[in-house]
Amino acid sequence: MKILVINGPNLNMLGIREPEIYGKDTYQDLISLVESAAARLGVEAAFFQSNHEGDLVDAIQEAYGRYDGIVINPAAYTHTSVALLDALKAVGIPAVEVHISDVAQREDFRQISYVRGACIGTVMGKGFDGYIEAMEMLIAHRGRSV
Ligand code: DQA
Repeated sequence: MKILVINGPNLNMLGIREPEIYGKDTYQDLISLVESAAARLGVEAAFFQSNHEGDLVDAIQEAYGRYDGIVINPAAYTHTSVALLDALKAVGIPAVEVHISDVAQREDFRQISYVRGACIGTVMGKGFDGYIEAMEMLIAHRGRSV
């Protein structure tokens, strides 16, 4: 099983950006954590990060026929992007939405998620471990659908 882990804007700044919310670990630390979890779970993980909405749309489109699952933290685009919702719907690849922080407990403008409508589940407020839980959800979902 091949899983694409997509991270949106400012997540390349993990470790520097608002450490009281997102922690002190870096984007590279996140990749290392998810890579070792993927190995343990017996899946292949690939990574993509961009600050640009269109590049994220391209990455989702290019996943078509190549990946069996998508873990996506669209970051701020969660709350604004119909284009990411449409891209996920277009490819039809099972996807799980992840947020490092508990967006449900934050500002009103973070209460809307467009991508959620195209995801089989959402994990929030669990830090980097949320990405591992998202992979486990995709693996369980695949188990149920074969
Ligand atoms: C985030 C939450 C978003 O509201 C925010 O814009 C981010 C990160 C999270 O992982 O908690 O950039 O997606």
